[in-house]
Amino acid sequence: MLTQENLKKAEALFARYPEKKAALLPVLWLAQEQEGWISQEMMRYVADLVGVDHAHVLGVVTFYTMFNDTKLGRHHIEVCTNVSCMLRGSDRILETVERVCGAKAGQTSADGRFTVSEVECMGACGGAPMLAVGERYHEHLTAEKTEQLLSSLR
Ligand code: FES
Repeated sequence: MLTQENLKKAEALFARYPEKKAALLPVLWLAQEQEGWISQEMMRYVADLVGVDHAHVLGVVTFYTMFNDTKLGRHHIEVCTNVSCMLRGSDRILETVERVCGAKAGQTSADGRFTVSEVECMGACGGAPMLAVGERYHEHLTAEKTEQLLSSLR
């Protein structure tokens, strides 16, 4: 369920579109910002709120990689392995992340500290190889810089 504050934001979004369902993506983004992920319960709530089926919302959440349908660790590490990053050594960056975090891509570490994801191009090819911690990008990485970065995260 959205907080009262986020519900007001959702209503403001609805006013921008001819139909409520057109605001589905930004409303899901509000839900994810609020909870850190989008549970099945939240998907049902949003479906009712915008007037679409739960299956429609499930399809949207699982299609877009920026939406998380499982609870994440405290730090979400997204490693780009697309072409530019791959050519600049993203395989070593991903190996380093998996080793230091104690979680393979697609997993959360046992202590709940890290979730590791392998992702497609994040639009920062000029800084390849790169990764994101939450919304913050870290570019021109080496294995050593990656280790230092990860060990600085509490
Ligand atoms: S290929 Fe990695 S940011 Fe574009």
